[in-house]
Amino acid sequence: MRQISLTKLSLATLCAMTILAGLSVYAQEDEDKPRPQPPVPAEYQNKKMPDGGWTNAALIAIGEKVFQEGVEITTPDGKEIQKCAQCHGPQGKPKLKGARDFRDASRINKFGESFWFWRVSEGVPETKMPAWKGILSEEQIWGAMAYEHRFSHGAEPAVHQHAEIVGLGGEK
Ligand code: HEC
Repeated sequence: MRQISLTKLSLATLCAMTILAGLSVYAQEDEDKPRPQPPVPAEYQNKKMPDGGWTNAALIAIGEKVFQEGVEITTPDGKEIQKCAQCHGPQGKPKLKGARDFRDASRINKFGESFWFWRVSEGVPETKMPAWKGILSEEQIWGAMAYEHRFSHGAEPAVHQHAEIVGLGGEK
């Protein structure tokens, strides 16, 4: 009797483990799958990097601070520091699974600047990417973009001008 129930138990455990393993493989594939860029909402379509911003040392320094040191935010549990690097990694190599790899030029070269600004401002629904609107100023968001753009250009500031840009690029 005792032996049967043990066998049943281990069968049940095995089944559960198989299902869980299957699910995690599925989740992994889903996260890494390149998704088409959704259209930029009307209120963001005119957003443009300030003139010369992609390579502006002062703006990049503002962005570096946001990215690496972060800002203090108030949560229901008190105050905490949130920074881009905690998920996207200090060198643009993601620390959080599913966070975008900023070293991947094939992806970043496609980001129209209004798309990029919108995504940082409003976050990405149903993912861990937070909305930064109201936490960061527009200048800090442009700075964070100019700073993170470096990761796909060998850590050097570069003008974001690529033939691959999808949608609203806004040449600068
Ligand atoms: C708590 C984790 C977390 C933090 C902090 C975070 N991100 Fe993200 N970010 C993510 C994840 C996860 C994704 C992938 C979302 C998806 O699946 O499209 C993402 C995606 C992005 C994208 C790409 C959006 C797209 O549609 O492909 C940009 C740009 C971005 N983050 C910029 C930033 C910037 C700038 C900061 C800091 C101001 C920041 N992130 C902070 C988790 C984070």
